[in-house]
Amino acid sequence: MAGPVDDVNFSSSAAASWISLIESDAARRRVDTLYPRLNAWLEGTSASDVLDIGCGQGICGHFLALNGRHYHGIDASSALIDRATHLYADTHRQFTVANVYELPFAAASFGAAFSVSLWHLLADLATATSEVFRVLESGGHLLVIAANPDAYANWTAPYCDVVTDGHRLEGSVRSAVGTIERDTIYLRPLSMIMGNMAQGLYDWSDRHVAPQKDGEPGMFSAITAYKP
Ligand SMILES: C[S@@+](CC[C@H](N)C(=O)[O-])C[C@H]1O[C@@H](n2cnc3c(N)ncnc32)[C@H](O)[C@@H]1O
Repeated sequence: MAGPVDDVNFSSSAAASWISLIESDAARRRVDTLYPRLNAWLEGTSASDVLDIGCGQGICGHFLALNGRHYHGIDASSALIDRATHLYADTHRQFTVANVYELPFAAASFGAAFSVSLWHLLADLATATSEVFRVLESGGHLLVIAANPDAYANWTAPYCDVVTDGHRLEGSVRSAVGTIERDTIYLRPLSMIMGNMAQGLYDWSDRHVAPQKDGEPGMFSAITAYKP
């Protein structure tokens, strides 16, 4: 059985499930929410090279206004990188199979790095964060958009047969293609997520990337940081 895309499952069926979700109408609201946020953040940097960590099938790179910058998307799933290359590779956009825990780049290769919907899937945030800071140049910017700790109840509501171990929650959930799969999410408090960015400076800039109904916390949060 292949579960949804997560920190350990990079199977082609998991990739197919993610592609089916992200290329469906359900993901269209990102055009008004997520992608403008990414562009506003990138505009505020002077980076000439930008890294997308856990780029999936590459859609964030497609919606980035690069204005001469070079975009590099990495993902641990070869099926998703194949899809990204097929759909979006061009002279300014490049995709590589790689794991955030061991990035295949020299130190200080990027002026900016971002990640969408990956941080809450990672078992080892300390290693991931330190790798990202290694490949950022001094003064380089980081943007992490991931599950909002204030909205964890909404994230976990669809799960059943739940097993927890510390901040790790594993449960059964319906995938985008309708199958029931085991899935894992890490429900860390904000202090722990930001504590792992201790090598950089950060601010908690935006907790409502995708607002829900009035009064409800947004499902996603954005953390910005930079490398001193
Ligand atoms: C929920 S998807 C988000 C994809 C993309 N960022 C987007 O928002 O369209 C999470 C992605 O992270 C990738 N991923 C999970 N663990 C990873 C790791 N350790 N290193 C690199 N990519 C990873 C998965 O393969 C998957 O494509």
